[in-house]
Amino acid sequence: MDKYIIDGGEKLYGEVEAQCAKNAVLPLLAASVLTDEQVKIRGVPPIADVENMLRILSEVGCNVRRQKDCAIIDSSNAVSHEIPPRLTKELRSSVFMLGSVLTRFRRAKISYPGGCDIGLRPIDLHLSGLKRLGVEITEEGGYIECKADKLVGTEILLDFPSVGATENIILAAVKAQGITVIRNSAKEPEIIDLQNFLNAMGASVHGAGGGTIVIEGVKKLHGVDYLPIGDRIEAGTYLIAVASCGGEIAMKGVRAENIAALLHKLRENGCKIHTKNDKIILESNGRLKAVPLVETMPFPGFPTDLQAQYSALCTTAQGTTLMVENLFETRYKYAGELKRMGADITIRDRTAVIRGVAKLHGAKTVAGDLRGGAALVVAGLKAEGQSEVLDLSHVDRGYADFEYKLKKLGAKIRRVRI
Ligand code: UD1
Repeated sequence: MDKYIIDGGEKLYGEVEAQCAKNAVLPLLAASVLTDEQVKIRGVPPIADVENMLRILSEVGCNVRRQKDCAIIDSSNAVSHEIPPRLTKELRSSVFMLGSVLTRFRRAKISYPGGCDIGLRPIDLHLSGLKRLGVEITEEGGYIECKADKLVGTEILLDFPSVGATENIILAAVKAQGITVIRNSAKEPEIIDLQNFLNAMGASVHGAGGGTIVIEGVKKLHGVDYLPIGDRIEAGTYLIAVASCGGEIAMKGVRAENIAALLHKLRENGCKIHTKNDKIILESNGRLKAVPLVETMPFPGFPTDLQAQYSALCTTAQGTTLMVENLFETRYKYAGELKRMGADITIRDRTAVIRGVAKLHGAKTVAGDLRGGAALVVAGLKAEGQSEVLDLSHVDRGYADFEYKLKKLGAKIRRVRI
């Protein structure tokens, strides 16, 4: 088990390039079983979630190769419609395999998915969407079994714009008979990326990003060579770190409109932000004003995946921030760790009251989930003295070269095996 040792208090300066988005790459990998031809995805980050998804693909019989930063998948010999339960537990996104494996084999079997322990995370919307397409679903002994002699296009209204449910339904509808319309679909940029990827394979998917997606089923999809979009959550984490510590960053590889909600808050905090030649430039003097209220929302609202990191920033802003987490029930587990560093946070249900203190002090903390772990790193970078962040397995699920990129900005952080 690895840990970070961070000597805090450095201002951060430099340029960072975002990795390709974890949440874009994972559904694309799932989609690779939709064709018999070769799929090449470029810029695939070497993070644990991606490696687990590649393992799942291998175990269903795909030939998976890594070539530099590309993943090359040939699923012409894929045989199994069963997603191995051991890997499903590691990775919630394994649930995307349901839609694509169903399309491929007309049946799919999966155990209830795992992932970060941040709340209930049901998959009822995925399953009711699939049922509307003609899938018969039986749930027994922790397994979900899906069968469909044929998938038939239809109208589906999502009660909530779930990212995963939208993606799963697209994957199940892409070769269905006729037209599927998904209303109240999620608008996240990663959905647009999935649409672009599928259309590059010969699919007919339109409307992603706008709340209604129309999928006209096609008979066949072909191979593709594709570069996914940049990771707005990873980029947001570096922007927050520099805003909070003070300094200047040029963030490459992510479009400002994809993290507009964060940039808006950081400006209110007192950061200067502009874009230049496709880079987001942020300057901060490190003395930030608190923003009174932040609420997480589906895109284009403030992303839940940046809630923890941004809350870490709020701990030393001048004034009080009310943070409301509207997506996941138990996404404040990191708050107890921040308190050990001197943060003043009170949690009640979905709301955190964060009263800014003059400074945090170094402490030993344990990362309990992916973004919570990143928040502890942000806190450690600005705290006075030395901090430790233990159990990096969660952080490794989402950040490639985390300490390397931070060191490049001038942070004093090292990874130690214990
Ligand atoms: C995706 C992201 C995750 C991000 C989340 C919200 C990936 C791989 N993961 O997760 O990083 O935090 O979007 O932006 O892209 N819900 C239901 N029933 C369902 C599905 C979801 O009630 O069938 C609820 C969830 O409990 C949650 C909300 O809908 O409260 C949002 O979940 P969803 O958008 O589905 O998130 P994920 O796809 O799991």
